[in-house]
Order: sequence, then C-alpha cells, then structure tokens
Amino acid sequence: MAIQTILKMGDPRLLRVAQPVTAFDTLELHQLVADMEETMASVNGAGLAAPQIGVDLRLVIFGTGQINPRYPQYEPIPKTVLINPTITPLGDDEEEGWEGCLSVPGMRGVVPRWARVRYTGFCVRGEAIDRTVDGFHARVVQHECDHLDGKLYPMRIRDFSRFGFNEVLFPGLPAEDD
Ligand code: NI
Repeated sequence: MAIQTILKMGDPRLLRVAQPVTAFDTLELHQLVADMEETMASVNGAGLAAPQIGVDLRLVIFGTGQINPRYPQYEPIPKTVLINPTITPLGDDEEEGWEGCLSVPGMRGVVPRWARVRYTGFCVRGEAIDRTVDGFHARVVQHECDHLDGKLYPMRIRDFSRFGFNEVLFPGLPAEDD
C-alpha cells in the first residue's frame, strides 16, 4: 500500500469522463482500493474518487466509519467502495450545504445537491450495492460520483458569495490543509 498524490483542480485528468470497471475482485482492483483508502485516511477525507489519484476508472470510496474530525457535526457514513455507480434523485428537493474537496485544498463552498437519492453499483468483489440515502450521505455520494464525470464542486456553485478560503470563512475552526 502507498499514499498517492492527490491531483489538484487545473489538472486535466480531473475533467475526464472515467471508464467503467470491467473486471472485479482482481489483485489490481484490491490494490487500487487499498491505496485510495490509505490516501484518504492520511488527510481525514470523507471520500475519494479514482480520478483524483489519476486513475481513469469509475470507482469511488467514501465513508467516515466513526465521526470524522473534519466533519464532527455529521452522522457517520458506512465505509463504502462503490464501482460503476448510478445515482437517481428521489423527488425534486434540493439542499444546500458546505463542501470541500481534496482536489481544491483550503476552500469551501455552498453546493446544491439532491436531498434524497438512490444509488446503485458494485463493491470490489462485484456484489451489488443498492441504497437509498439522504442528508450528508447523499451529499457525499453525489460529490464523489461527480468526479467520475469530470465535475468538481465549484462547477455546481450558484452563489459565489459563499465560496472561499477556510480560514476566512470559518476563522474559529482549526486550520485544515484541504
Ligand atoms: Ni472531491
């Protein structure tokens, strides 16, 4: 296992539409997931998409297990590896919420997301995943899966008065590097 370099906004590899995974439960896929988990843990991330480490595949990991120190106010999300995902909004309700991204370090912005979604896909062994979620869980899965279509959260911001640097927006909070 090895911590990988996280690409930053401006890198064209973050703008690609990623390719579907075609072989499950392979050594390469397990290695990729292990690298991504180690990389995400090293920066206390809530999620990471394969394109963020330069891998052109439709694979995301997310989850907080216990309470994430970066997101102490949110309910835990089960640790998940989600491959070839589809997301279907349930209803028309949107919610606004603050997001950050390991590829846009030091910043936060308010992003509208579907309030409730169903998502499907496969785990690393190729078993089906089918969940209906809302709240922070729904936000995180939408953010991560956007990475698979070359979308970064600033592209979804509607009100740029609520986009800026962490230490300016939230001066009372401890400094974070992402
Ligand atoms: Ni991100």
